[in-house]
Amino acid sequence: MITCSGIHKSFGSLEVIRGVDLSVGTSEVTAIVGPSGAGKTTLLQILGTLDRPGAGTVRYGDVDPFALRPAALARFRNSNIGFVFQFHQLLPEFTLLENVAMPALIGGIARREAFARASELVAMLGLKERAAHRPGQLSGGECQRAAVARALVNTPQVVLADEPSGSLDSANRAELHRIFFDLRDRLGATFVIVTHDESLAADCDRVIHMRDGLVTSISSRNEKNQL
Ligand SMILES: Nc1ncnc2c1ncn2[C@@H]1O[C@H](COP(=O)(O)OP(=O)(O)OP(=O)(O)O)[C@@H](O)[C@H]1O
Ligand SMILES: [Mg+2]
Repeated sequence: MITCSGIHKSFGSLEVIRGVDLSVGTSEVTAIVGPSGAGKTTLLQILGTLDRPGAGTVRYGDVDPFALRPAALARFRNSNIGFVFQFHQLLPEFTLLENVAMPALIGGIARREAFARASELVAMLGLKERAAHRPGQLSGGECQRAAVARALVNTPQVVLADEPSGSLDSANRAELHRIFFDLRDRLGATFVIVTHDESLAADCDRVIHMRDGLVTSISSRNEKNQL
C-alpha cells in the first residue's frame, strides 16, 4: 500500500535522510525508533506528505501524492492520512466531539454524517461522557485519545503518530498503546508510530530502526531482516 523509495532530504548542507526505502503493511502497527536526530520526524513528515523529499518517491497504492497540485494534495491528505502529534493540538474553542468531527467537516462530509462517525469513534475510545467538554476541561490522556479519534474520522489509509504518548504518564501511556492495537484489530486501522517507548515498540508488528538518516534494520513479528 504505502511505499517510500530512495528518500533523501537535506536542510541546507545537512543531509538528514540519506536514502530510505520502506513499506507500511496494512492493518499493522509499525514503530519507527532511533536516537534523537536520527531523522524520524523528518521521515514521518515526508510519509505524511507534509514535507517534500529532495529525492525519491512516496506512493499510496497507485497514487504519487507529490505529483498532485497543492489543492489536490491537501484533499488527498485529508481523506487518506490521519495525524497524531505529541501534544494533542485540539482546538480549544470546540468541544471534544466537534474536534473529532473537524477533518470530516473540512473534507466536505455532511454534518449529520460527520457527527455520526465522530460519535462512534468517541464511544469506541471511551470518551462518550466527555464529548461535550472543551479540551481545557479534559485530562492529557483524554485529549490524546480524542486526537486518535480525530485522526481516524475520515477512515484514512494510515495514521501517522509522532511520539503520541510522549507527554503522558505511565497509566495513560499504557492505555493509549492498548488503543492502537485494539483499533488495528477492530477496524483494521494502520499506524506508523515514532516512539522512544521500548515497550510499545516491542508490541508492534514491525519496528524500523533509524540512525543518522538511514534505516539500519527492520524487525517484524515473524521474521528478522537485518539490512
Ligand atoms: N526544518 C529544519 N531545518 C534544519 N534542520 C532540521 C529541520 N528539521 C530537522 N532538522 C535536523 O534534522 C535532523 C533530524 O531531525 P528529526 O526531527 O527528524 O529527528 P528525530 O529523529 O525526530 O529526533 P527526536 O527523537 O529528537 O525527535 C536533526 O539534526 C535536526 O536538527
Ligand atoms: Mg522527532
